[in-house]
Order: sequence, then structure tokens, then C-alpha cells
Amino acid sequence: MADEHRLEELLEFLRKEGVPETLVDGVRKYRADYPVPPEAADRVPCPDYRYYGKAVWEKALAVLLTGENLLLAGPKATGKNVLAENLGLVLGRPCWNISFHINVDAAYLIGSDTFDGSRVVFRPGPVTLCARNGGIGILDEINMAKNEALAVLHETLDFRREIEIPGYDRIPLDPACRFIGTMNYGYAGTREMNEALTSRFAVLDMPVIDEDDLARLITDQFPTMKRSARGQFIRLFYELEKKTENAEISDRSLDLRGMLDAIRLISVGISAGDALDMCITNKTFDRYEQGLIRDVIRARIPEKLAGKDIFA
Ligand SMILES: Nc1ncnc2c1ncn2[C@@H]1O[C@H](COP(=O)(O)OP(=O)(O)OP(=O)(O)O)[C@@H](O)[C@H]1O
Ligand SMILES: [Mg+2]
Repeated sequence: MADEHRLEELLEFLRKEGVPETLVDGVRKYRADYPVPPEAADRVPCPDYRYYGKAVWEKALAVLLTGENLLLAGPKATGKNVLAENLGLVLGRPCWNISFHINVDAAYLIGSDTFDGSRVVFRPGPVTLCARNGGIGILDEINMAKNEALAVLHETLDFRREIEIPGYDRIPLDPACRFIGTMNYGYAGTREMNEALTSRFAVLDMPVIDEDDLARLITDQFPTMKRSARGQFIRLFYELEKKTENAEISDRSLDLRGMLDAIRLISVGISAGDALDMCITNKTFDRYEQGLIRDVIRARIPEKLAGKDIFA
């Protein structure tokens, strides 16, 4: 009953976002078709915050409901991981996070034989667990994958939907199983992803959050923040974005995560000047650029501004 209620709440959220009823129904049907295996129920994510953005929700759900894999590509702090977790929650699937920053190899992804004290057993890796449980594999920073991991990904994401476990059988991917890749590329670009891997995904170009959604996000994360202060921070964010787009400053300091962190620091007693220095300005190491950024910030947010000024 509690689960039913939770589902209705999530579907209502999607409707409020503006997701069309056909997709909302699709979610309901997908969840009914693929109940969560009880042993993996604790892997269904429970993100602290919602992802805001109708167009992105719509595309992402359409891709996953039609059985495709989804690649979220875009600049830092555009909510790629927040969205991936929200999709796991809405679709009610257990999720496995796999970060490709570390040296991930085939044995890590698929699993390997280990000695359990009395005999050799196969210890499944996250891709195998995902395949068996019909989970969502979140392939974080997938463009950083090295050759050995690439071979596994090419096979797993293939239309055959099977993985080969060396020395064991091939195992099919459960029909509910999906993969969501995330890939960070900024104005200055980053490591490209190879064509064969990209072709296995529908690619969603993640936009920078729009103004209305940003206002909702800030209200969500800081419910007691005064409206006027919220407006100043929002304007600051888009001013920095504009300067980045015009190449007046680099994209190092355009960081929504940094701005939210700064507000959090202010809430615990750090002055606005120091908080914004640490969370935005100092992310570039060029003194001249720091000066430019500080000027933009100071024009909006007084250095001495304190928590009591911005929170009710
Ligand atoms: N459209 C959005 N809806 C909700 N939150 C968002 C949105 N865009 C950015 N955020 C916020 O930005 C912060 C970073 O989110 P997240 O970690 O998902 O970003 P990311 O795109 O994965 O970044 P990176 O490329 O640096 O890993 C979070 O606080 C998140 O709430
Ligand atoms: Mg991320």
C-alpha cells in the first residue's frame, strides 16, 4: 500500500513536470511488468532531490521505455547523475553505479572466480548483477573507459543482449535491464567516446537548467531562503553562464554544484564573500580571471552578506 502511494506520488510529479500521459502510463506498465526482485530492493535509489526539466524527462523516459540505452552527455553539474538516480527511482529498478574513472577491467565488470575458504566460486561483478536482476547500470564517466572495459561494454550493450562469462555460460540480459551512461564534456571538450560505443546509445544532450527550474531547485534544497536572495543567486548563475559562453571567462567557475555549496556554507556561518570565493572563484587558478569573476559576484552579492540576511 505504501508502495502504491509512493508510485502515485512519483507519477504525479512527472505529470506536474509536463511529461505526457502516454509516457506516464508507460512507466506504470513497465513497473507492473517488472516487479523489483526482493533481494535487490535496497538498490532502488532514493535520491535526495528531484531532477527538474520537462524536455529531458520526456526524452529519457521514452528512450528507456522503448528498451534503448541512454547516454547523458553534457557539461559538469547539469544533473546527469541526479537524473540517472531519479530514473532508477521512477522506473523502480535496482541500480548499480560503475565509475570508469578508476581502472575498471573486464573481471571487475563481469566478475571473477574467488576462493570462499572451501572452494572456488564465481563472484559476480556489477554488470552481471544488473543483467540478472533486470537492473539499471549507471556507467559513470563512460568516456573514460579503457580498452578492456570497452570490450565488455560493446558486448553488453549489443542488440543480442547477452554477456559471456569466461569459463561459464553466456547469460541473457533480463528484459528490464537498461544502461545509462554519463559523459562530461564542457565548452573546452574532453575525451571523446569511440563511435562503436556511442552507436549503442541514444544520446541526450543535457541542457543547463532553465531559470524556472533553477528557482524550484533552490527552493527545494533551501526552503527557508528568502525570495529576494534566491533571485540574486539565480541572476549570478546566468551572468556567469553568459560570460562563459562569450569566452570572457573559462568554464571552470560555471558550476551549479559550486553555487549550491556556497549557499550551504553561508547557511552555517561563512560570509558570502568567502563562501563564493571557495566554491566558485577559486576554481580557476588564473589570477586575472579570478578578478573578473569576483567582480561579477560582488556586483550582485555583497561580500559581508551573512546567513541571517538570506535565510528567513
Ligand atoms: N535540471 C536539474 N535538476 C535538478 N538538479 C540539478 C539540475 N541541474 C543541475 N542540478 C544540480 O546540480 C548538482 C550536480 O548534479 P549531478 O552530480 O547530477 O551533475 P553531473 O551532471 O553528474 O555533474 P558532473 O559532470 O560534474 O559529474 C546537484 O546539486 C543537482 O541537484
Ligand atoms: Mg556526474
